[in-house]
Amino acid sequence: MSGDKFVIEGGQHLKGTVHISGAKNAVLPCMAASLLTAEECYLENVPNIGDVEYMALVLQSLGAHVERPTPSSLLINASTITSYSPPSELVLSQRASFLVLGALLGRAGRGTCSFPGGDVIGQRPIDVHLAGFAALGANVHPEDEKVTAEAESLHGARIFMDYPSVLGTENVMLAAVMAQGRSVIVNAAAEPEIAGLADMLNGMGAHITGAGTHTINIEGVSELHSARHTIIPDRIEAGTFVVAAAITGGDVEIVDAEPSHMDALICKLREVGVSIEVGESSLHVLGTDDLHAVSVQAVPYPGLPTDLQAPVASLLTQAQGVSYIHERVFDNRLLYVSELRKLGAEVVSTGTTAIVAGPRTLSGNNVRALDVRAGAALVLAGLIARGRTEVSDIYHMDRGYENLENKLQSLGAIIERVST
Ligand code: EPU
Repeated sequence: MSGDKFVIEGGQHLKGTVHISGAKNAVLPCMAASLLTAEECYLENVPNIGDVEYMALVLQSLGAHVERPTPSSLLINASTITSYSPPSELVLSQRASFLVLGALLGRAGRGTCSFPGGDVIGQRPIDVHLAGFAALGANVHPEDEKVTAEAESLHGARIFMDYPSVLGTENVMLAAVMAQGRSVIVNAAAEPEIAGLADMLNGMGAHITGAGTHTINIEGVSELHSARHTIIPDRIEAGTFVVAAAITGGDVEIVDAEPSHMDALICKLREVGVSIEVGESSLHVLGTDDLHAVSVQAVPYPGLPTDLQAPVASLLTQAQGVSYIHERVFDNRLLYVSELRKLGAEVVSTGTTAIVAGPRTLSGNNVRALDVRAGAALVLAGLIARGRTEVSDIYHMDRGYENLENKLQSLGAIIERVST
């Protein structure tokens, strides 16, 4: 784990063009999907981030070969599976690793996995995943902090998800594509990353319709084959740069993005007063110093993503009036509030609501990234804070943002990585 920190000198208006990488939360399920075939899978537009490295280690621990033929592609060959149980430390350090359980169940009819860890952002149960496996006919035994799922054969089923969990929907899809007969996932998550996974699986020979809506239909198949798949643009990285441009009063063109996945953010930031022009795969953001307070709710897609809730809070420290931010997905995702206060923000949290009064002049200080998105929010605040801000524990950001500091530097930000 790197002890690096970012040192930021605030006060620059960002200007220029920034390219958006492939989506962290889309590439991880696609990597797990590669386990479903004995043939090679080739992924393009793969971000160079820590979470991809973790997932590669997980796949390798199961016997897969993983290569990076180019900096932005991955070749995965799971012709032989040699283990059905990834090492606990990998699953504990990255939640998406738990997706290999659905893929192993689909491919081999069995798998064992530790209960997953991940960012400290609230309770993160896996009941939805396990109920889905059981509905497909698997025996699911949780024991000693691990869970085993096994089945002689999986059969299609109508599966109702108690909550439209993103990873839960993906895990159940990974198993259901290889079940005999038809499955219907009702109250499925509708995030674009789910549609991305379905595209990859359909490219491998699966029959999935409805992904990206709350009802997904899957006709099971007995075999899947090789595929070449391009990872969708990262809507959260793009949103982070929209906020970076807005908060610094900048003028930034964000390219290789997918604005149609970003309606909620675009609409909310326009309400705040930010000018955003939308192209087919680009966004042109023009900041202003006339920002207004708003009410924000972080909810499942197509609502404003919980992953952009903290970055938007940083922006609202500069808006005139009192803003309310309601986090409706996770129950503990406002821990960044105390760090923002160290920079001079007037923000308090009560339960799952943050209240921000603005505008306030922020001043540099030493703060700590608590998770990938909370860290991004502090970097954004550091860009406008007077003087020097040091953000520690930036390994969180390295897990999810490709070249964050280089991309910001290319827009004129004064930010440096310092090894401690
Ligand atoms: N939930 C349940 N039961 C379950 C699973 C989830 O009640 O079995 C509840 C959770 O307690 C939580 C809510 O469902 O309140 C949402 O959790 P979800 O399962 O949808 O989240 P996730 O799949 O674990 C993914 C992303 C997160 C993102 C959330 C919500 C990946 C690898 N992670 O997590 O991304 O915040 O969906 O959109 O796809 C990030 O990128 O920083 C990040 C945390």
